[in-house]
Amino acid sequence: MSSLLVDDIGELVTNDPVGGEGGPLGVRRDVALLVEDGRVAWVGPARDAPAADRRVDAGGAAVLPGFVDSHAHLVFAGDRAAEFAARMAGQPYTGGGIRTTVGATRAASDDELRATVRRLRDEALRQGTTTIEIKSGYGLTVADEARSLAIAAEVSEETTFLGAHVVPAEYADRPDDYVGLVCGPMLAAAAPHARWIDVFCERGAFDADHTRAILTCGQAAGLGVRVHANQLGPGPGVQLGVELGAASVDHCTHLTDTDVDALASTRLDNGHTATVATLLPGAEFSTRSPYPDARRLLDAGVTVALATDCNPGSSYTSSMPFCLALAVREMRMTPAEAVWAATAGGARALRRDDVGVLRPGARADLMILDAPSHLHLAYRPGVPLIRQVLRNGVPQ
Ligand code: NIG
Ligand code: FE
Repeated sequence: MSSLLVDDIGELVTNDPVGGEGGPLGVRRDVALLVEDGRVAWVGPARDAPAADRRVDAGGAAVLPGFVDSHAHLVFAGDRAAEFAARMAGQPYTGGGIRTTVGATRAASDDELRATVRRLRDEALRQGTTTIEIKSGYGLTVADEARSLAIAAEVSEETTFLGAHVVPAEYADRPDDYVGLVCGPMLAAAAPHARWIDVFCERGAFDADHTRAILTCGQAAGLGVRVHANQLGPGPGVQLGVELGAASVDHCTHLTDTDVDALASTRLDNGHTATVATLLPGAEFSTRSPYPDARRLLDAGVTVALATDCNPGSSYTSSMPFCLALAVREMRMTPAEAVWAATAGGARALRRDDVGVLRPGARADLMILDAPSHLHLAYRPGVPLIRQVLRNGVPQ
């Protein structure tokens, strides 16, 4: 059994507030953390640290759980920089560009797609992301969705079938047939490589009936439910997600009181909501749209996660620190709320209790900052503050 001691930790964010100490982030000071076989084995005062085979000296800096990015679209080809430039000159975002990326993705080889997924996964890892959910959704044929998920599954266990991203051009005048394809042969080919199913429930994409039909088929095939909901305008996505027991409803930019009440009604005995609201401020940044009202959700007791939505159209960033800084500055989350949402919140959105937290038994996924406190992540935006990342206890 190999062991590693992370020593001289000035501030440790555990997300495990034992007896309410250290606030909601369970912050502990002047501690060490022992890793054995990729898991956290012990956390305690530095002076009591046990011997270990190897040692990593945190030099008095802050150590946090690795970020859990619970929403990313990494399997695609090409980019849409020109579309971004047009938006910055005043064009609105409609999601219409998705079909451009579908064309490029279908034309790409497996190796080209694989290289992009790995490049973005590595980029995210360097910025502290140790768990990343990856969606399909730019293939939209049976073969292209299946290969997208197979390539995603090579680098992540959190893979999501998003065959219902938009209706592809060849089905534009017969969307019911496309829903039949998604629920039938496409789901059958995708499910072996996927843990989740997702639908873009939005005007111009999939309506309530189509969304319910697709999510229900996915559930019957053993997949967990997540929904792209209420991004571009009000709609049925959030309430449908709650009705179907979704782990997360994502975007949540345009919510009614009924939507917020529905999310709050999923509250569990542990104080979290079974359905998490995942907010994606990179999308509002890149589409120059109003940010979601995080305070309204938090004040209603809804569990909130932060994620990147990394994709070539609406949010081409893999940076959780950037999204966290946006959430603090633009969405009035406190730095502690944003750090929690980007780590433990993402884990809840993926129904995981082994990541996003640093306590004995959890995966030893963590980052050492070039800073004395987690506050610096939002306080020093745009600065490369992630000094070292450990994944499964292995320095990356
Ligand atoms: O989550 N909204 C739907 N899907 C992506 C955007 C996809 C694209 O524009 O290529 C999103 O923002
Ligand atoms: Fe998305």
